[in-house]
Amino acid sequence: MPLSIVILAAGQGKRMKSDLPKVLQPLAGRPILSHVVQAAKALKAEGIHVVYGHGGDVVRTTLASEPVIWALQAEQLGTGHAVMQAMPAIPDDHQVLILYGDVPLVKAETLQRLIEHSNERAIGLLTVVLQDPTGYGRVVRDGAGNVVRIVEQKDANTKERAIGEINTGLMAMPARSLKAWLSALRNDNAQGEYYLTDVIVMAVREGFKVNAVIAPTEAEVLGVNDKVQLAQLEGALRMEQATKLMLDGVTLADPARLDIRGNVKTGRDVFIDVNVVMVGNVELGDRVRIGPNCYLKDCRIAADTEIHPNCVIDRAEVGPRNVIGPFARIRPDSVLHEDVHIGNFVEVKKSEIGAGSKANHLTYLGDATVGRKVNVGAGTVTVNYDGVNKWRTEIGDNAFVGSGSMLVAPIKIGANANTGAGSTITKDAPEGKLTLARAKQVTIEGWKRPAKKV
Ligand code: UD1
Ligand code: CA
Repeated sequence: MPLSIVILAAGQGKRMKSDLPKVLQPLAGRPILSHVVQAAKALKAEGIHVVYGHGGDVVRTTLASEPVIWALQAEQLGTGHAVMQAMPAIPDDHQVLILYGDVPLVKAETLQRLIEHSNERAIGLLTVVLQDPTGYGRVVRDGAGNVVRIVEQKDANTKERAIGEINTGLMAMPARSLKAWLSALRNDNAQGEYYLTDVIVMAVREGFKVNAVIAPTEAEVLGVNDKVQLAQLEGALRMEQATKLMLDGVTLADPARLDIRGNVKTGRDVFIDVNVVMVGNVELGDRVRIGPNCYLKDCRIAADTEIHPNCVIDRAEVGPRNVIGPFARIRPDSVLHEDVHIGNFVEVKKSEIGAGSKANHLTYLGDATVGRKVNVGAGTVTVNYDGVNKWRTEIGDNAFVGSGSMLVAPIKIGANANTGAGSTITKDAPEGKLTLARAKQVTIEGWKRPAKKV
């Protein structure tokens, strides 16, 4: 059967105590809802329908790039009512998989299994057994072990409340039957809501089989209702990603102190120290070592490079055998070739640094093209900005830029050129020569230091 997916995301999420709608709260750096959409996309459905309500416009604009069909639930009258909003757009011969926008860790494989347990005459119901099932809908089975209905916490009697198997809310069933059941729903229950869960008893009455699929882990079906649960899921996701890296051969100083908000690819024998945050697409080559407290975003770091503590690398390419930091900042559009050394308190922006070049201390290289084997002395600044325009600095191979040089761009420092320490260089410095631009040193004879009157 062709598949349609419905994601319920209209709930308010009051307990988040936030102006941001619950489904947009960030988990591993992106909205909770986008994790669910990603799992849905892996299933090759004909349509992914998102039922939205609270914070509607923000939700839609935040996920504007996703291939989903939006269905508005203007009033939150219950999960059954929510599903109803999406049904007019779903053909009768489809199979419908219902997901929750606030249950983000569910895996595509689990959903695939759920789909396979549903057909024209059967519902697939994802359940889990909890130590403390308080608050959830309980899965009621008959003497033969068949699922017969779901009872909500508030409607359950003492015996039913003792049941540990709960409804995760995720289920799959044929669209034609679902439509009929939904239109027969009533809200004469403890919460005055149209419960999606009531379709189970209707299905059973029609002779449907309800196949309970037990979730492989509790984490997969955990919902997010408040910031405590959000942090728990973040922790679960962190451990999952760290485990994947370790199984790929990466050594982690502490898997609990690594945050991955995106995708990380690693070579062999990579080492990552504590409190490292990796965002977007990060690639670490063979034997790369990342020191503590580094922030790496959308960057590639080639083999045998060492990143010392407290570095920020953002949208840059770092070549092989580089030594970076501590306390270095490599900014967007920077390309560092092989054997480059960038030391403490050095900022590199939109610059290309040639093989074997070094800028080891307190330097700003912005809009610069630096050749091979260049030595940039401490305290050098490419003066690239005149308040309106950004200008480029070019430094030739083997140049030696003296400490404290101000290179006022646009400017070229020739190959093998030297600039004298403390020079403000405003005109091109020719190849192979020493260029100086600083006041002559004088010593004033007979000068007296002013003295305080007593
Ligand atoms: C629901 C189930 C319960 C299950 C639990 C699992 C029902 C009646 N109960 O309970 O059996 O154990 O989930 O967490 O289905 N939503 C809408 N519109 C609405 C109401 C809800 O879009 O009018 C969405 C929410 O945004 C959320 C999901 O549906 O993503 C579940 O809603 P929630 O209120 O958390 O369901 P519960 O009543 O806790
Ligand atoms: Ca809930």
